[in-house]
Amino acid sequence: MTGKATGMTAPHRDQVDRLIREALAARQRAYSPYSRFRVGAALLDEAGEVFVGCNVENASYSLTLCAERVAAVTAIAAGSLRWRMIAVAAEGGATPCGACRQFLAEFHADLAVIVVDAASGLWSNHSLRELLPHAFGQDSLGVSQPQSD
Ligand code: THU
Repeated sequence: MTGKATGMTAPHRDQVDRLIREALAARQRAYSPYSRFRVGAALLDEAGEVFVGCNVENASYSLTLCAERVAAVTAIAAGSLRWRMIAVAAEGGATPCGACRQFLAEFHADLAVIVVDAASGLWSNHSLRELLPHAFGQDSLGVSQPQSD
């Protein structure tokens, strides 16, 4: 699979390849009958576990869940809060939407984000801080660690 790294230090290639494979596979499971736009995400945590997600749409459109947030809540529900990298696969290589950037930043403000074009396999490497500069977060509230209760 071809790729190009931009910006931050390139993550390990074998981890990137694994995450890209998982994101592409999750994308096949997208439930997107309204937009017909399939998105898959794969999140790698510091322990080496991978959690995947796909977009899940609904006839009540605003209930739609993005692939990134499905992967994130899957990790959280499994007890994983320390993350290393997320890969997002979509036709044309879409970057995470603003809501997903904010959601992910709650847990890792500088998460590595691999954006994968599902058609070509080309990918690029970003950081969440680059995608969501001047983020609102725990610092703004005077909180230093994610609070579980
Ligand atoms: N979508 C994602 O899953 N992730 C994004 O970051 C952007 C958009 C989904 C939501 C919807 O099901 C479809 O793509 C079209 O917006």
